[in-house]
Amino acid sequence: MTERTPLIAGNWKMNLDHLQAIALIQKLAWTLNEKNHDFKDVEVCVIPPFTSLRSAQTLIEAEKFELSLGAQDISKHASGAYTGEISGAMLSKLAVKYVLVGHSERRQYHNEDDSVISAKVAASFSSNITPIICVGETQEQLQEFGPSAIPVKQVLAALEGQENLREFVIAYEPVWAIGTGEIATPEQAENVAVEIRAAIGQKFGDVAEQVRILYGGSVKAGNVAGFMQGANIDGVLVGGASLDSAEFAGIARYKKHIVL
Ligand code: PGA
Repeated sequence: MTERTPLIAGNWKMNLDHLQAIALIQKLAWTLNEKNHDFKDVEVCVIPPFTSLRSAQTLIEAEKFELSLGAQDISKHASGAYTGEISGAMLSKLAVKYVLVGHSERRQYHNEDDSVISAKVAASFSSNITPIICVGETQEQLQEFGPSAIPVKQVLAALEGQENLREFVIAYEPVWAIGTGEIATPEQAENVAVEIRAAIGQKFGDVAEQVRILYGGSVKAGNVAGFMQGANIDGVLVGGASLDSAEFAGIARYKKHIVL
Protein backbone atom coordinates (compact mmCIF):
# COMPACT_ATOMS: atom_id res chain seq x y z
CA MET A 1 0.00 0.00 0.00
CA THR A 2 1.19 3.51 -0.79
CA GLU A 3 2.12 5.69 2.15
CA ARG A 4 0.17 8.92 2.04
CA THR A 5 1.41 11.78 4.25
CA PRO A 6 -1.58 13.12 6.21
CA LEU A 7 -2.49 16.72 5.49
CA ILE A 8 -4.06 19.00 8.10
CA ALA A 9 -5.25 22.15 6.32
CA GLY A 10 -6.79 25.25 7.90
CA ASN A 11 -9.19 27.26 5.72
CA TRP A 12 -9.44 30.66 7.38
CA LYS A 13 -12.17 31.83 4.97
CA MET A 14 -12.70 35.63 5.13
CA ASN A 15 -11.15 36.11 8.54
CA LEU A 16 -8.11 37.99 9.93
CA ASP A 17 -6.11 40.84 8.41
CA HIS A 18 -2.44 40.36 7.61
CA LEU A 19 -1.23 41.47 11.04
CA GLN A 20 -3.54 39.02 12.75
CA ALA A 21 -2.40 36.38 10.27
CA ILE A 22 1.23 36.89 11.24
CA ALA A 23 0.35 36.53 14.93
CA LEU A 24 -1.65 33.34 14.35
CA ILE A 25 1.01 31.69 12.18
CA GLN A 26 3.70 32.52 14.72
CA LYS A 27 1.71 31.07 17.59
CA LEU A 28 0.82 27.96 15.61
CA ALA A 29 4.42 27.30 14.55
CA TRP A 30 5.78 27.94 18.05
CA THR A 31 3.21 25.64 19.63
CA LEU A 32 3.95 22.83 17.20
CA ASN A 33 7.73 23.33 17.36
CA GLU A 34 7.65 23.31 21.15
CA LYS A 35 5.86 19.96 21.02
CA ASN A 36 8.43 18.68 18.49
CA HIS A 37 5.80 18.20 15.81
CA ASP A 38 7.23 16.20 12.91
CA PHE A 39 5.98 18.12 9.86
CA LYS A 40 7.25 15.40 7.51
CA ASP A 41 5.05 12.91 9.30
CA VAL A 42 1.92 15.09 9.41
CA GLU A 43 1.87 18.06 7.02
CA VAL A 44 0.25 21.26 8.32
CA CYS A 45 -1.05 23.91 5.93
CA VAL A 46 -2.55 27.36 6.52
CA ILE A 47 -4.93 28.85 3.96
CA PRO A 48 -5.39 32.57 4.73
CA PRO A 49 -7.13 35.19 2.55
CA PHE A 50 -5.17 36.60 -0.42
CA THR A 51 -4.24 39.78 1.48
CA SER A 52 -2.21 37.74 3.99
CA LEU A 53 -0.34 35.49 1.60
CA ARG A 54 2.69 37.73 1.12
CA SER A 55 3.11 38.33 4.85
CA ALA A 56 2.64 34.62 5.56
CA GLN A 57 5.20 33.66 2.92
CA THR A 58 7.79 36.14 4.21
CA LEU A 59 7.32 34.99 7.79
CA ILE A 60 7.42 31.28 6.98
CA GLU A 61 10.60 31.70 4.91
CA ALA A 62 12.37 34.02 7.37
CA GLU A 63 11.64 31.82 10.38
CA LYS A 64 12.11 28.57 8.43
CA PHE A 65 8.75 27.33 9.64
CA GLU A 66 7.77 24.01 8.10
CA LEU A 67 4.17 25.05 7.51
CA SER A 68 2.76 24.82 3.99
CA LEU A 69 0.86 27.71 2.47
CA GLY A 70 -2.40 27.52 0.56
CA ALA A 71 -4.76 29.96 -1.20
CA GLN A 72 -8.55 29.95 -1.09
CA ASP A 73 -9.19 30.45 -4.80
CA ILE A 74 -7.47 30.73 -8.19
CA SER A 75 -8.54 32.36 -11.44
CA LYS A 76 -9.28 30.01 -14.31
CA HIS A 77 -7.49 32.53 -16.54
CA ALA A 78 -3.71 32.81 -16.87
CA SER A 79 -3.59 36.63 -17.10
CA GLY A 80 -5.38 39.60 -18.61
CA ALA A 81 -8.43 41.80 -18.20
CA TYR A 82 -10.13 40.03 -15.29
CA THR A 83 -10.56 42.66 -12.60
CA GLY A 84 -10.30 41.25 -9.10
CA GLU A 85 -8.93 37.86 -10.14
CA ILE A 86 -5.68 36.26 -8.93
CA SER A 87 -3.74 33.99 -11.27
CA GLY A 88 -1.92 30.75 -10.60
CA ALA A 89 1.39 32.37 -11.62
CA MET A 90 0.91 35.07 -8.96
CA LEU A 91 0.17 32.44 -6.34
CA SER A 92 3.09 30.23 -7.20
CA LYS A 93 5.46 33.23 -6.86
CA LEU A 94 4.21 33.48 -3.26
CA ALA A 95 5.27 29.87 -2.61
CA VAL A 96 1.65 28.76 -2.52
CA LYS A 97 1.60 24.96 -2.59
CA TYR A 98 -2.14 24.25 -2.40
CA VAL A 99 -5.30 25.97 -3.59
CA LEU A 100 -8.89 25.27 -2.62
CA VAL A 101 -11.08 24.66 -5.66
CA GLY A 102 -14.83 24.18 -5.58
CA HIS A 103 -15.42 24.90 -1.90
CA SER A 104 -19.15 24.68 -1.24
CA GLU A 105 -19.23 28.39 -0.36
CA ARG A 106 -17.83 29.19 -3.82
CA ARG A 107 -20.26 26.79 -5.46
CA GLN A 108 -23.16 28.32 -3.54
CA TYR A 109 -22.41 32.07 -3.40
CA HIS A 110 -20.41 32.46 -6.61
CA ASN A 111 -22.31 30.00 -8.77
CA GLU A 112 -19.21 27.96 -9.52
CA ASP A 113 -20.35 24.99 -11.54
CA ASP A 114 -18.49 21.90 -12.72
CA SER A 115 -17.06 23.66 -15.78
CA VAL A 116 -15.60 26.56 -13.74
CA ILE A 117 -14.19 24.12 -11.20
CA SER A 118 -12.62 21.95 -13.87
CA ALA A 119 -11.03 25.07 -15.46
CA LYS A 120 -9.64 26.12 -12.06
CA VAL A 121 -8.20 22.64 -11.52
CA ALA A 122 -6.51 22.95 -14.94
CA ALA A 123 -5.16 26.41 -13.98
CA SER A 124 -3.72 24.93 -10.76
CA PHE A 125 -2.01 22.11 -12.64
CA SER A 126 -0.44 24.50 -15.13
CA SER A 127 0.93 26.65 -12.28
CA ASN A 128 2.31 23.67 -10.38
CA ILE A 129 -0.07 24.22 -7.48
CA THR A 130 -1.86 21.23 -5.98
CA PRO A 131 -5.63 21.76 -6.02
CA ILE A 132 -7.62 20.67 -2.99
CA ILE A 133 -10.83 19.80 -4.81
CA CYS A 134 -13.76 20.22 -2.42
CA VAL A 135 -16.86 18.10 -2.90
CA GLY A 136 -19.91 17.31 -0.82
CA GLU A 137 -23.66 16.94 -0.81
CA THR A 138 -26.40 19.04 0.80
CA GLN A 139 -28.88 17.52 3.24
CA GLU A 140 -31.53 17.32 0.48
CA GLN A 141 -29.09 15.63 -1.91
CA LEU A 142 -28.13 13.18 0.82
CA GLN A 143 -31.76 12.20 1.21
CA GLU A 144 -32.43 12.03 -2.52
CA PHE A 145 -29.26 10.39 -3.86
CA GLY A 146 -27.67 8.67 -0.87
CA PRO A 147 -24.27 9.27 0.70
CA SER A 148 -21.68 9.15 -2.11
CA ALA A 149 -23.39 9.84 -5.46
CA ILE A 150 -22.94 13.63 -5.44
CA PRO A 151 -19.35 13.74 -4.12
CA VAL A 152 -18.26 11.09 -6.64
CA LYS A 153 -19.96 12.94 -9.49
CA GLN A 154 -18.29 16.21 -8.47
CA VAL A 155 -14.85 14.58 -8.27
CA LEU A 156 -15.18 13.06 -11.73
CA ALA A 157 -16.50 16.33 -13.22
CA ALA A 158 -13.52 18.25 -11.80
CA LEU A 159 -11.02 15.76 -13.27
CA GLU A 160 -12.77 14.95 -16.55
CA GLY A 161 -10.77 15.85 -19.63
CA GLN A 162 -7.74 17.24 -17.74
CA GLU A 163 -4.87 17.10 -20.22
CA ASN A 164 -2.20 17.73 -17.71
CA LEU A 165 -3.19 15.63 -14.70
CA ARG A 166 -0.85 16.23 -11.75
CA GLU A 167 -1.04 15.76 -8.00
CA PHE A 168 -4.40 16.65 -6.49
CA VAL A 169 -6.13 16.32 -3.12
CA ILE A 170 -9.85 15.70 -2.54
CA ALA A 171 -11.69 17.21 0.43
CA TYR A 172 -15.00 15.54 1.20
CA GLU A 173 -17.06 18.13 3.04
CA PRO A 174 -20.74 17.36 3.49
CA VAL A 175 -22.40 20.79 3.10
CA TRP A 176 -24.68 20.05 6.05
CA ALA A 177 -21.63 19.66 8.32
CA ILE A 178 -19.78 22.88 7.39
CA GLY A 179 -19.83 25.44 10.19
CA THR A 180 -22.90 23.83 11.71
CA GLY A 181 -21.43 21.79 14.52
CA GLU A 182 -23.29 18.86 12.99
CA ILE A 183 -20.76 16.26 12.02
CA ALA A 184 -20.54 13.17 9.87
CA THR A 185 -19.54 10.03 11.71
CA PRO A 186 -16.07 8.64 10.98
CA GLU A 187 -17.79 5.65 9.33
CA GLN A 188 -19.82 7.92 7.03
CA ALA A 189 -16.70 9.84 6.02
CA GLU A 190 -14.69 6.66 5.45
CA ASN A 191 -17.44 5.10 3.33
CA VAL A 192 -17.62 8.12 1.04
CA ALA A 193 -13.80 8.24 0.81
CA VAL A 194 -13.79 4.57 -0.26
CA GLU A 195 -16.28 5.34 -3.05
CA ILE A 196 -14.33 8.41 -4.20
CA ARG A 197 -11.08 6.44 -4.31
CA ALA A 198 -12.72 3.60 -6.21
CA ALA A 199 -14.17 6.02 -8.78
CA ILE A 200 -10.79 7.71 -9.29
CA GLY A 201 -9.21 4.26 -9.64
CA GLN A 202 -11.71 3.22 -12.30
CA LYS A 203 -11.05 6.34 -14.35
CA PHE A 204 -7.37 6.99 -13.75
CA GLY A 205 -5.88 3.73 -12.47
CA ASP A 206 -3.06 3.59 -9.96
CA VAL A 207 -2.96 7.31 -9.08
CA ALA A 208 -6.00 6.62 -6.89
CA GLU A 209 -3.73 5.01 -4.28
CA GLN A 210 -1.66 8.20 -3.96
CA VAL A 211 -4.52 10.69 -3.81
CA ARG A 212 -5.06 12.14 -0.36
CA ILE A 213 -8.69 12.35 0.66
CA LEU A 214 -9.53 14.75 3.48
CA TYR A 215 -12.68 15.04 5.57
CA GLY A 216 -14.03 18.50 6.37
CA GLY A 217 -16.98 19.86 8.32
CA SER A 218 -16.92 20.89 12.00
CA VAL A 219 -13.59 19.17 12.71
CA LYS A 220 -12.14 19.96 16.13
CA ALA A 221 -9.29 18.69 18.30
CA GLY A 222 -11.82 16.56 20.17
CA ASN A 223 -13.16 14.68 17.14
CA VAL A 224 -10.29 14.58 14.62
CA ALA A 225 -8.71 11.33 15.79
CA GLY A 226 -11.84 9.28 15.01
CA PHE A 227 -11.80 10.46 11.39
CA MET A 228 -8.09 9.82 11.02
CA GLN A 229 -8.62 6.17 11.93
CA GLY A 230 -10.34 5.60 8.59
CA ALA A 231 -7.93 3.85 6.22
CA ASN A 232 -9.03 6.12 3.38
CA ILE A 233 -9.07 9.42 5.26
CA ASP A 234 -5.71 11.13 4.84
CA GLY A 235 -6.30 14.39 6.64
CA VAL A 236 -8.80 17.10 7.44
CA LEU A 237 -9.85 20.47 6.08
CA VAL A 238 -10.68 22.68 9.04
CA GLY A 239 -12.60 25.97 8.98
CA GLY A 240 -13.62 27.60 12.27
CA ALA A 241 -11.24 25.62 14.48
CA SER A 242 -8.22 26.69 12.40
CA LEU A 243 -8.58 30.29 13.68
CA ASP A 244 -7.52 29.21 17.16
CA SER A 245 -3.84 28.27 17.24
CA ALA A 246 -4.11 25.95 20.25
CA GLU A 247 -7.13 24.14 18.83
CA PHE A 248 -5.58 23.79 15.36
CA ALA A 249 -2.27 22.60 16.83
CA GLY A 250 -4.32 20.05 18.77
CA ILE A 251 -5.86 18.85 15.50
CA ALA A 252 -2.42 18.54 13.87
CA ARG A 253 -1.29 16.47 16.87
CA TYR A 254 -4.12 13.96 16.46
CA LYS A 255 -1.67 11.04 16.69
CA LYS A 256 -1.19 11.86 20.35
CA HIS A 257 -4.91 11.54 21.09
CA ILE A 258 -6.50 8.51 22.60
CA VAL A 259 -9.54 7.26 20.72
CA LEU A 260 -12.02 5.41 22.88
P1 PGA B 1 -15.80 24.18 9.46
O1 PGA B 1 -15.49 24.52 7.90
O2 PGA B 1 -14.63 23.41 9.99
O3 PGA B 1 -15.95 25.53 10.11
O4 PGA B 1 -17.06 23.37 9.47
C1 PGA B 1 -14.89 23.58 7.07
C2 PGA B 1 -14.65 24.17 5.69
O5 PGA B 1 -15.52 24.89 5.20
O6 PGA B 1 -13.63 23.91 5.05
